[in-house]
Amino acid sequence: MTDKEAYIRQIEQSAEYIASLSDRRPEICIVLGSGLGKLASMCDIIREVSYSDIPGFPVSTAPGHAGKLYISEISGKPCYMLGGRFHYYEGYDIGTVTFYVRVMAKLGIKTLVLTNAAGGILDCSEVPCLMIIEDHISFLAESPLRGPNLDTFGVRFPDQSHVYDPEYISILEDSAKSLGIGIKKGIYAYTKGPQYETPAEIRALRMLGADAVGMSTVPEAVAATHCGMRVAAVSCISNLAAGLSKGPLSAEEVIISADKISDADCSLIKEFISRI
Ligand code: HPA
Repeated sequence: MTDKEAYIRQIEQSAEYIASLSDRRPEICIVLGSGLGKLASMCDIIREVSYSDIPGFPVSTAPGHAGKLYISEISGKPCYMLGGRFHYYEGYDIGTVTFYVRVMAKLGIKTLVLTNAAGGILDCSEVPCLMIIEDHISFLAESPLRGPNLDTFGVRFPDQSHVYDPEYISILEDSAKSLGIGIKKGIYAYTKGPQYETPAEIRALRMLGADAVGMSTVPEAVAATHCGMRVAAVSCISNLAAGLSKGPLSAEEVIISADKISDADCSLIKEFISRI
């Protein structure tokens, strides 16, 4: 078996197991980034399973990530919710980081909702705040599509003109407005981490047009567009990026800050799901 065949076989095994857990067939998958973990307690959970029980599925090591897959219902719509993702900085190869996206594609997911915590570069006078991702910058990072193309998932050279679905962006804006939640819209720059950026890197990213910076989301969004999924993404801007804040950056600050805005973040995602 080639590496590609083994990878596809592993995807199929995970997907078969997840499909066997319930007779619901969700078309929406939500990734619960920092601060969004609460969403699991704010909706009806039909079934939950640890990643370690899913054949072939990786196990996440990042702090604040539950390592669980939930089958849930939001506004009458069945959804898969992933409590924890796989970051490149944890040492996974890029195929493992995006493994779950391909499992979701096999399961028939059409919409991927990505959430994360990010550092703010944009004019953000108060943190935490929320930002709808309208595009990204990631050309310094390894592509999840590198290597033999997975033809059963998508084409060799996928268009990236609209990674974040334009209709979803306006539904997110309308959802925030109806809930009275102030929200920004901007460009997310992906860095591999795990170290935070230097002030010089943040100045460079700002000149390139970035509004926020973070260590996740982009590989998954790229893999999802390759599979033909529609993607929506929201960042919780948990801190001012390096050089823009007075004190040093810390993971504790990110978690505390993401927690402060998690009610608004969860309500926004629920409202969005009810409208799509
Ligand atoms: N940089 C990168 N990733 C992050 C940050 C940051 O400032 N805050 C939360 N995730």
